[in-house]
Amino acid sequence: KTHQNNRAELSGKKVLISAGPTQEKVDPIRFFTNHSSGKMGFALAEEAAKLGAEVTLVTGPVSVETQNKQIKRVDVVSAADMYETMHKHYPSSDIVIKAAAVADYRPKQTFSEKMKKQSGGWRVEMERTQDILQSLGEQKTHQFLAGFAAETTNPIEYGFNKLKKKNLDAIIINDVAAEGAGFAGDTNAVTYVNKTEETKDITLRSKHDIAKEILLLISRDMKDDMN
Ligand code: CTP
Ligand code: CA
Repeated sequence: KTHQNNRAELSGKKVLISAGPTQEKVDPIRFFTNHSSGKMGFALAEEAAKLGAEVTLVTGPVSVETQNKQIKRVDVVSAADMYETMHKHYPSSDIVIKAAAVADYRPKQTFSEKMKKQSGGWRVEMERTQDILQSLGEQKTHQFLAGFAAETTNPIEYGFNKLKKKNLDAIIINDVAAEGAGFAGDTNAVTYVNKTEETKDITLRSKHDIAKEILLLISRDMKDDMN
């Protein structure tokens, strides 16, 4: 396809993207989080807008910004906040991409006042958060639902298992141990796998180029589904 044709590839489509980490607080000063920078999710939002989509970007606390006025940004903090916001926008969305690195655990107890240091250690009990993506998969009606999988071993096998378990239409598998891939940098390398187990390696390149390629593959798979 030519560049010109790509321009309106997603016009009329409502795209919902989640990005960044979540923060799970234990007291007013301290929280648990992870290394997600939000760059991959923001790149997806910007490239989707360039392809003509109407974009809502739900993001955890990040330092990246977007100048694109077409993107509706909604800031959230915890996994529970992200759950609520994603479900609010889900029914009216056509394409949903969960690029966020959601915390799997949060402190079971949160303290309203700062915990003062004591002579001994501090044992924090953790409980599971809800799996947002899995709940979206269970409630799927017409949406094309895509997730990410961050893996360090057997990426394709573990990644495809997540697609099946969460009722996804595609999964973008991130081998975070690979050179030039993963959380902090401006580049990534991923494998896109759809529900018919068609696999496409998107080799090392900028997160923006990866994002565009992912969106064009999603657009292709949505057209195939209609035929
Ligand atoms: N995800 C989510 N809610 C959670 C945890 C994960 O929506 N509480 C989503 C992520 O946004 C991502 C996908 O699930 O799109 C896979 O996340 P990942 O951490 O790779 O897998 P998990 O299912 O959490 O399994 P594990 O961390 O044990 O590998
Ligand atoms: Ca996880």
